[in-house]
Amino acid sequence: MENISLFEGEKKHSVTEIKNLGLNRSEENLKKLLEFFPAVTDIEVKREIVSSIGRQNNNQKIFDFIKNNVYNCGFMDLVYQMYRTCLYKGRTDENFKNLGEEIKNFFNNEVLNKMHDYFFYKQTHSRKILREKKYSKPILLRGNNVETLKKIEKNSVQLIFTSPPYYNAKIYSNYHSYKDYLTDMKKTLEICHEVLEDGRFIIINVSPVISKRPGREFESIRYPIHFDFHKILTESGFYFVDEIQWIKPESSVKNRNGGYQQTKMPLSYKPNCINESIMVYRKNCNFLLDKNIAMYDKTFANDEIFDSSNCWYIAPTANKNHPAVFPKELCRKILKYYSFRGDVVLDPFAGSGTFGEVAIEMKRIPILCEQNEFYCDLINGGNIYVQL
Ligand SMILES: C[S@@+](CC[C@H](N)C(=O)[O-])C[C@H]1O[C@@H](n2cnc3c(N)ncnc32)[C@H](O)[C@@H]1O
Repeated sequence: MENISLFEGEKKHSVTEIKNLGLNRSEENLKKLLEFFPAVTDIEVKREIVSSIGRQNNNQKIFDFIKNNVYNCGFMDLVYQMYRTCLYKGRTDENFKNLGEEIKNFFNNEVLNKMHDYFFYKQTHSRKILREKKYSKPILLRGNNVETLKKIEKNSVQLIFTSPPYYNAKIYSNYHSYKDYLTDMKKTLEICHEVLEDGRFIIINVSPVISKRPGREFESIRYPIHFDFHKILTESGFYFVDEIQWIKPESSVKNRNGGYQQTKMPLSYKPNCINESIMVYRKNCNFLLDKNIAMYDKTFANDEIFDSSNCWYIAPTANKNHPAVFPKELCRKILKYYSFRGDVVLDPFAGSGTFGEVAIEMKRIPILCEQNEFYCDLINGGNIYVQL
């Protein structure tokens, strides 16, 4: 429904009406817009008024309006509109340029800083980046990924999807402490940041784990690995985009209800954990995702079928050779939504190599890292991978 400004005794103004005033530049329209601004209460309409004022020609009046209102308008949404005007008008008018700086420094807010960085990036970079593909064959890197990924060119990977070791939950993990574990994970994320192309996604599958009790008289510790991953991901130069829940059938997970079922005592409740987190992050950069998408033509679009929510119902897969393999269906969805045909895609903790297998099926070029020789041999059983 069209937003209409409503308060008692006030003439009603719609967003469309204000937009039309903004599109026609005239002193008369500017006068009306300046009069409407203090009287209108609806924030959407008010925002449109600010934007329409910014489109007008009389720079002195616009400058005075922003200077007099930006620090006391009460809504950051209005401040952003006023700042936007300063950015655009600041290209040719020093006064707006200085006012914009003043506003940015005064509020010192992450949105204004991002607006500033995006705006100036756009001014200095052409719209289309032509990318030349660095790798054309599947690659297997044997050894610790922190070392082996140094062989991969910076900015050459278009997607990273992985399931890191879940601290000491499985036989292939043996860290002295949780702190050591997070330090090691962060080293991997930092090298991942180097090889990932600007603006592309890194997707991590993790879930909380519980340590074994050293005896009946001690409490077990439950580690919220996904919360701690958020911290090391952001410290490594990625920002949060989405959290998808991978939901498994309840019959496939460990039953934790036993104690409560017996006693029905409050506090003894433990739900069965049927979800794992799929943490979707993007590499920090000064441009919108549109720019990443614009590198591909329209023939790369997906089919009509898609998952509309962030809950993906997928049964887990068991594998006699590896204790924690991805279900292929999970890899298919990740590759479908977060990469294009022909992209180079990386799994730094490859295990049995499920992600690589699906990537090849879906015409992507996988790079897999694995430090366990047995799993490496499993991955390259068919000699498909080049080993660097
Ligand atoms: C959770 S498993 C991945 C399973 C995989 N998603 C699959 O479908 O088979 C994690 C794997 O990371 C490997 N790993 C752990 N630390 C590593 C490191 N620093 N460099 C390379 N591989 C590592 C382990 O050997 C283990 O196979």
